[in-house]
Amino acid sequence: MTRWGILAPGRIAHKFAQDLLHVPDAKLVAVASRDLIRAQEFAHQYGATYAYGSYEELLSCGELDAVYIASPHIGHYEHTLMCLRAGIAVLCEKPFAMNATQVAEMIDLARQKQVFLMEALWSRYMPTTLKALEIIESGAIGKVLGVKADFGFKAPYDVTKRTFNKSLGGGALLDIGIYPLFWSYLILGKPSQIKAQSVFGETSVDESTGMTLTYPGGTFAFLDCTFMAATRCEAYVYGEKGTICVHSRWHESKALTVEYPDGTSETHTFDRSTWGYQYEIEEVNACLKDNQLESKLWSLDDSINLMDLLDSVRHEIGLVY
Ligand SMILES: NC(=O)c1ccc[n+]([C@@H]2O[C@H](COP(=O)([O-])OP(=O)(O)OC[C@H]3O[C@@H](n4cnc5c(N)ncnc54)[C@H](OP(=O)(O)O)[C@@H]3O)[C@@H](O)[C@H]2O)c1
Repeated sequence: MTRWGILAPGRIAHKFAQDLLHVPDAKLVAVASRDLIRAQEFAHQYGATYAYGSYEELLSCGELDAVYIASPHIGHYEHTLMCLRAGIAVLCEKPFAMNATQVAEMIDLARQKQVFLMEALWSRYMPTTLKALEIIESGAIGKVLGVKADFGFKAPYDVTKRTFNKSLGGGALLDIGIYPLFWSYLILGKPSQIKAQSVFGETSVDESTGMTLTYPGGTFAFLDCTFMAATRCEAYVYGEKGTICVHSRWHESKALTVEYPDGTSETHTFDRSTWGYQYEIEEVNACLKDNQLESKLWSLDDSINLMDLLDSVRHEIGLVY
């Protein structure tokens, strides 16, 4: 049984706690909020034993195997370091931190303390993602020529919320653009060139960003994200002998279709009754049971490489936090 703590019980932490209830060998033990009442309500709702009115107090729990960090982006670095220093395994929300320098420091500390650390990039563990990789590996679509992915929704405009608030690390790129970038990195690795352009809003964060990545041999990735419109949210892999389309919304999808040039196609469906966070929870549980210090599916090197890509795009569009 992996005993979990949650740090910062906001919107995503509720979904995580709901999915945790579906993982047989995991249990929510403690929750920490900046507000004790909020922590107590959350603990009561999901059956946790302990509730704390500060994040620091969570470290004194003494019954935790892992902490899920769900604070706004700007808190990830500090909160991860705090848990690692206390020797507690960490699953930290995406983006892992605000830049690659912070991520490198988090990884260094985890390795030095020999404590498990993983970025909560839940899409990596989705059955659709695993299936797409399996299809590519099988050679069914032939040589990969390029990828395409988008993530867009109409975000309610509220400068107090983290999405548009620059001091909380707001902006489409770090919040949702990370997913299309993840898709390109997963399939194609590191690009040789990145071009990007953004539309900035009143709060000086990117509200829409388009990215074109090119790779040796002419392979390409066309990626975009926006807070301004509900886009299709589909991910594609174009191969010489076929195309994989991960159905909308691809980052949390339940199905993908492979289309072949002769007009035939096959669809693979993976039903579930959860949000889809149980897959990353199961990965952490399995790693901890196996005494692994990082996930083999999404390693710490993968996390820093992805953050490097985000840094490069930010450099291109001129977004400084
Ligand atoms: N994997 C996914 O599917 C997914 C989806 C959405 C978000 N996320 C990630 O999860 C993180 C949290 O997102 P969210 O949508 O859950 O945000 P949220 O609803 O605003 O919750 C964040 C929580 O962080 C705490 N917090 C600490 N410092 C804060 C500050 N200065 N301002 C506001 N809140 C602060 C608050 O909890 P207390 O005050 O109770 O401590 C708050 O409830 C983000 O990094 C985001 O990228 C991931």
